[in-house]
Amino acid sequence: MFAVHLMAFYCSKLKEDQIKKVDRFLYHMRLSDETLLDIMARFQAEMQKGLGKDTNPTASVKMLPTFVRAIPDGSENGEFLSLDLGGSKFRVLKVQVSEEGKRNVQMESQFYPTPNEIIRGNGSELFDYVADCLANFMKTKGLKHKKLPLGLTFSFPCRQTKLEEGILLSWTKKFKARGVQGTDVVSCLTKAIRKHKDIDVDILALVNDTVGTMMTCAYDDPYCEVGVIIGTGTNACYMEDMSNIDLVEGDEGRMCINTEWGAFGDDGALEDIRTEFDRELDLGSLNPGKQLFEKMISGLYLGELVRIILLKMAKAGLLFSGEKSSALHTKGKIETRHVAAMEKYKEGLANTREILTDLGLEPSEADCIAVQHVCTIVSFRSANLCAAALAAILTRLRENKKLARLRTTVGMDGTVYKIHPQYPKRLHKVVRRLVPNCDVRFLLSESGSTKGAAMVTAVASRVQAQRKQIDEVLALFRLTREQLMDVQSKMRTEFEYGLKKDTHLMATVKMLPTYVCGMPDGTEKGKFLALDLGGTNFRVLLVKIRSGRRSVRMYNKIFAIPLEIMQGTGEELFDHIVQCIADFLDYMGLKGAQLPLGFTFSFPCRQTSIDKGTLIEWTKGFKATDCEGEDMVDMLREAIKRRNEFDLDIVAVVNDTVGTMMTCGYEDPNCEIGLIAGTGSNMCYMEEMRNIELVEGDEGKMCINTEWGAFGDNGCIDDIRTRYDKKVDEGSLNPGKQRYEKMTSGMYLGEIVRQILIDLTKQGLLFRGQISERLRTRGIFETKFLSQIESDRLALLQVRRILQQLGLDSTCEDSIVVKEVCGAVSRRAAQLYGAGLAAVVEKRRQDQGLEYLKITVGVDGTLYKLHPHFSRILQETVKELAPRCDVTLMLSEDGSGKGAALITAVAKRLQQAQKED
Ligand code: BG6
Ligand code: BG6
Ligand code: GLC
Ligand code: GLC
Repeated sequence: MFAVHLMAFYCSKLKEDQIKKVDRFLYHMRLSDETLLDIMARFQAEMQKGLGKDTNPTASVKMLPTFVRAIPDGSENGEFLSLDLGGSKFRVLKVQVSEEGKRNVQMESQFYPTPNEIIRGNGSELFDYVADCLANFMKTKGLKHKKLPLGLTFSFPCRQTKLEEGILLSWTKKFKARGVQGTDVVSCLTKAIRKHKDIDVDILALVNDTVGTMMTCAYDDPYCEVGVIIGTGTNACYMEDMSNIDLVEGDEGRMCINTEWGAFGDDGALEDIRTEFDRELDLGSLNPGKQLFEKMISGLYLGELVRIILLKMAKAGLLFSGEKSSALHTKGKIETRHVAAMEKYKEGLANTREILTDLGLEPSEADCIAVQHVCTIVSFRSANLCAAALAAILTRLRENKKLARLRTTVGMDGTVYKIHPQYPKRLHKVVRRLVPNCDVRFLLSESGSTKGAAMVTAVASRVQAQRKQIDEVLALFRLTREQLMDVQSKMRTEFEYGLKKDTHLMATVKMLPTYVCGMPDGTEKGKFLALDLGGTNFRVLLVKIRSGRRSVRMYNKIFAIPLEIMQGTGEELFDHIVQCIADFLDYMGLKGAQLPLGFTFSFPCRQTSIDKGTLIEWTKGFKATDCEGEDMVDMLREAIKRRNEFDLDIVAVVNDTVGTMMTCGYEDPNCEIGLIAGTGSNMCYMEEMRNIELVEGDEGKMCINTEWGAFGDNGCIDDIRTRYDKKVDEGSLNPGKQRYEKMTSGMYLGEIVRQILIDLTKQGLLFRGQISERLRTRGIFETKFLSQIESDRLALLQVRRILQQLGLDSTCEDSIVVKEVCGAVSRRAAQLYGAGLAAVVEKRRQDQGLEYLKITVGVDGTLYKLHPHFSRILQETVKELAPRCDVTLMLSEDGSGKGAALITAVAKRLQQAQKED
């Protein structure tokens, strides 16, 4: 009895002594909760640093955006290929994600070896090898000739700008293939796969193993928002609020961040924690100075740490009676699986003896107890450090959500976590102690990262299919050079038709003579009234022209024309106009003054003289009755008479293009073209009299109002009109009319955009498939909104805000698509304008028999003025289509009122001269 007691005493004394000895030796490796809380705080600061735009470049914890924005929602389905490269095992898999609702995933996989000469050889050979394995897998599984999307789990730090791209920042762990760092691994692999002509694979997603793990676990537990790997390497990812991620545009929702916590401490932040053993291990590693946190934690290093410690203890005579075997001297001889085996609850001590004996040592009972304790301290420290960093992430999540208590799930994987007998328990316990206000569930990823990677790929593949549909729509608006040349040549043909007597009546482009025969010469002077009707604003102006100095002073007032008047009776419209004139005269204190008046009337009028203009038909938003076929000057005179308050001398009726040309021509005599890109679309230019068959005389030039807005009304450009153009036309006031205008001008571009958005929404590609009342409302996209949305300076968030103002509740993805749609529509408009303008400048060049023509175009209109890219694209297109013309676009700053007044001044002078004759 006594002997038994003595034996027991002896054993526990022996154990105690050994443990004390090791504790003393490894004193520095035992971390108190206070230290762990301190490390946790340091890691919180590191995360913040990595997320900040300015601080990221120098941050050691890189906090890499992964472009994975949501956890699986169960709607994922399809068949995918998956590669899992970078952990302890390289696998190729086929993953079948079942039909909606069933949440069923089937996987078939095959492991392939990763010999050192491949993973540390030449980069291209590594990718060739991976592609070979993939091809082999597809062959054995009968998947050749099947086009499959692939998700690549690549467990190294990659900087991503999208899901299907990743620049390798640096190799970690056992890999060190040459020529890969700094390049996109997806392209590298794609290139290698292309060499296999018999397989067709599209890499849709690149995912870190932590992300794959999180997604795998989230498929089963929607609370999962963190992924942790404690395997060959160690790392974690979690869902961060977009508003905290400076490196990615957009503030909505969340994105998964791959922390790459393995590099924590690479800037010296953990020097007080690191021991001499850590330093020695680091020096002998493939990447000295790098991944210092990882080297204290993960599987690739734990065994080696133990070996270094044992060797040191042996050298100090604390173990093996000071004996050291050559195996103990050899790097890598103790692996993490050995550490795990030595720490096993019951067989641990026996395992220890066996392992040490295999290392050529002769351990005593005391040695075995001590060695076992070394293992415990090393692996306990690993769990503690992981717990501290994980606690920091959990705290961040809780704070992001502004919760007092967080309930969450962490997806776990990696051989250390899986095979070490005590590790999970220890880790869980410490985490719960460090963050008592988090209820954490730890969920082991049974099926590795690839199931999750397949989920990401499934979403990517859905997005890709949707993208394809969107691209197909946008492609309808892309015009080739040939198509534009065709428009140019057809426009030219229409010009000729309009000018010739025989064909004029059938011509769609009416080529209306304006009876404006010359440019202002600077001798014009006097005080004039001007009306400017037909653009966005109706204006009444007083224009004072001083001769000689080419200086003009203007006073104007904008009046509204209510819709019911624009589309009421002609009498009401003109009464309203006269009412506005009366108000203006009153306002200017000019009542009773009998001033000459120039009437800018921006609709197609047939003129027989400068002061007569019969409205051919309304365009744009006007539709007042009893006007078409009537002389607009007469109607205005009658309205003045009806009011019987004042008299006005109406001298000229002028189209806005003509007014614009004149306004600009006053400053630049080379200006012989007037262009409007506003509510409507039109152009006028100076034509040789001899070409104008409708007007007598061959001498000199006369301005022709082309009314090109009607180009295409005979169907000649129907090949480039899209279904959306047709929809807009059908819903307009004048169906079938003004087809070119409806593809180019401000009043219609927004409508085209709206029609496209409705269609994309119907296809489920926008606004979550919901067509809102606002989107059904005609005219919501005014030119100014299009212009704002397309501004380059605008961040996505601002685009969203504009859309919100318009009553459209959009996500960031929606905003990108809306912006693209606006861009495609307005670009086509500018190009079509360019083709039309090229037609006229080329005509002018040829008519004058010039090798090279230099000409200025006066331009006005809100589309031209507000849109950020319109004028550039217009200019580029003209240059391309009319290379022998040097075309200067000159913005009319003062509107057409000034030009109308100048025309009135000239007409008045001629009138006077005629009277005197
Ligand atoms: C596997 C995952 O289960 O775990 C891999 O599928 C991951 O993607 C690996 O890299 C991590 O553990 P280890 O121990 O293999 O490095
Ligand atoms: C104005 C002119 O500046 O531009 C008007 O004064 C013209 O005569 C108008 O009709 C065209 O642009 P919008 O965009 O107002 O139709
Ligand atoms: C290394 C890699 C990291 C990976 C981890 C676990 O730390 O850099 O990307 O997630 O190992 O495999
Ligand atoms: C419409 C009118 C035209 C005008 C143009 C620009 O096309 O028909 O006369 O010049 O709009 O306002």
